[in-house]
Amino acid sequence: MNYRHAFHAGNHADCLKHALLTALIHSLKLKPAPFAVLDTHAGTGRYALTSAEADRTGEWREGIGRIPVAQDAASPLDEYLSIVHSTGKDLYPGSPDIVARLLRPQDRLICCELHPEDFLSLRRLFRDNQQVSVHERDGYAAIRALWPVKNISRGLVLLDPPFEKPDDFSRLAEAIALSRQRLRGAIVAAWYPVKHRTPVRAFFNQLQDMGERKILTAELMLRAPTDPSRLNGSGLLIANPPWQFEKTASEITSKLAAYLGDENCTANVEWIVPE
Ligand SMILES: C[S@@+](CC[C@H](N)C(=O)[O-])C[C@H]1O[C@@H](n2cnc3c(N)ncnc32)[C@H](O)[C@@H]1O
Repeated sequence: MNYRHAFHAGNHADCLKHALLTALIHSLKLKPAPFAVLDTHAGTGRYALTSAEADRTGEWREGIGRIPVAQDAASPLDEYLSIVHSTGKDLYPGSPDIVARLLRPQDRLICCELHPEDFLSLRRLFRDNQQVSVHERDGYAAIRALWPVKNISRGLVLLDPPFEKPDDFSRLAEAIALSRQRLRGAIVAAWYPVKHRTPVRAFFNQLQDMGERKILTAELMLRAPTDPSRLNGSGLLIANPPWQFEKTASEITSKLAAYLGDENCTANVEWIVPE
């Protein structure tokens, strides 16, 4: 395991994933019944933007560093940004930190992180939080073991693997299907890199061939994906999105494109498979 999220926290991919994640949790809170979130690849939960790792890549400067603190009235990024800016000076919240701060007393968060040091940091972050459980285990295997959560029939699975292995897209497709089988109606949000279009197309085809339906994607592309050695953009695939979420996703991705990109940047929200 070479990947450490500390090098990438707050970059354009995090802004996309976390702004959409915030909006998804917001929509789950519209109903009073409890919900659970399973974060299969959770990271450390909180990142110092002044760390040697963050400084070495400087990626956050081209991501969260470009988004003004003060937004024009009623920006679609408001809720996400208020979480980011309340995290602390020069800190950036990871997905578990964002979700934990949005939970109501009846809701739960389950996190998995396999890297021993990152697991310890995450466990430390939540040591006093009874609503959050942290597991040092394989996030994919956790779908069978920990999902759904007992007595909770609504929720969201966040799949955010590091894409270090050649079969990552294929494992992701299987994990999306399994998460939905284990809890009917669950929202599944899966982040994917767009270095080149070919593996992304194969990923979508695999999901279609598996019979998966109701799949929306929201992508932020900084440039055309012609150089496969670069992270040219990324997407969040959302299975079972909330009603009219495509509108919310379009507003969020367009706003991010305006801040993070130049004239080559595009924001696309698309139904890969409709209902
Ligand atoms: C992209 S980062 C997660 C970032 C986090 N979701 C966020 O948005 O703040 C991927 C994380 O998965 C961890 N990881 C890698 N393989 C794993 C596995 N099989 N199960 C659980 N965690 C894993 C890595 O150590 C890394 O911290």
